[in-house]
Amino acid sequence: MAIDFHAAANRNTYAGREAQPDWQAAMRTILDPAGRQVVDIGCGGGIYTAAWAGLGAAGVTGIDFSAQMVADATAATAGRGNIRIRQGDACRTGLPDAAFDIVFARALIHHLPDLGAFCREAFRLARPGGVCILQDRRPEDVALPGSTAHIRGYFFECFPRLAAIEAGRRPSRAAVEGAMRAAGFAALRSEPLWETRRHYPDREALAADLSGRTGRSILHDLSDAELGGLIEHILAQLPAAPVAEADRWTLWIGRRPG
Ligand SMILES: C[S@@+](CC[C@H](N)C(=O)[O-])C[C@H]1O[C@@H](n2cnc3c(N)ncnc32)[C@H](O)[C@@H]1O
Repeated sequence: MAIDFHAAANRNTYAGREAQPDWQAAMRTILDPAGRQVVDIGCGGGIYTAAWAGLGAAGVTGIDFSAQMVADATAATAGRGNIRIRQGDACRTGLPDAAFDIVFARALIHHLPDLGAFCREAFRLARPGGVCILQDRRPEDVALPGSTAHIRGYFFECFPRLAAIEAGRRPSRAAVEGAMRAAGFAALRSEPLWETRRHYPDREALAADLSGRTGRSILHDLSDAELGGLIEHILAQLPAAPVAEADRWTLWIGRRPG
């Protein structure tokens, strides 16, 4: 069953970890956020909202349609005067026109029914000269095999039906570029990003994280027994050593002319 972002049971599923240096370096390379205004759409528990502030943004607005996620993000960023969290739909944020130097959305667009409407909203929010950065996985990113460097690949090796779900929901390079171009963004490019998700002291710590389905919406399509089998399989592949979990993403980048 698909994840319910509004359910109290999913409290803190997109909180409790920090963006890692490889993600931070990639963002800085696109546009130095120091002194900029950033909006993080579909902010979840605010991991990346906080990360943008940590990179020196003057102000960061996180927005999410789920009251639970808004509560998580608000709690996680409490006391940080340059962060504000709002509830709203990605396609109708209610935020002011042309207010942001960076419009960012990570792991959001594959959940949206209307990518075109979202890109038009992103364009409206961007200042002339501002950038839009969309981070998601293409079907090709999802299809990478499982290995100690790409643990997520084991999900699909063990349960091919999960690959079918991903194939149906993950956007192609052309679909996202087309929607961004139609919305008005220019200087479009897309590039791969290997992002470290988390470091674990040992395999057992990874297993504990997986068993909570934390931040992994696709695992909500497995029963508890299936998830247990997957974790056993993954543990059997990994050496008894610290684990660095990383995933391949695609970044789509466009600029609002101005
Ligand atoms: C996979 S989570 C990613 C959270 C966060 N961006 C991250 O990378 O940690 C997707 C988030 O998008 C939010 N979301 C999904 N559809 C949305 C919509 N139509 N409008 C606003 N937020 C939405 C969900 O509530 C969830 O918090």
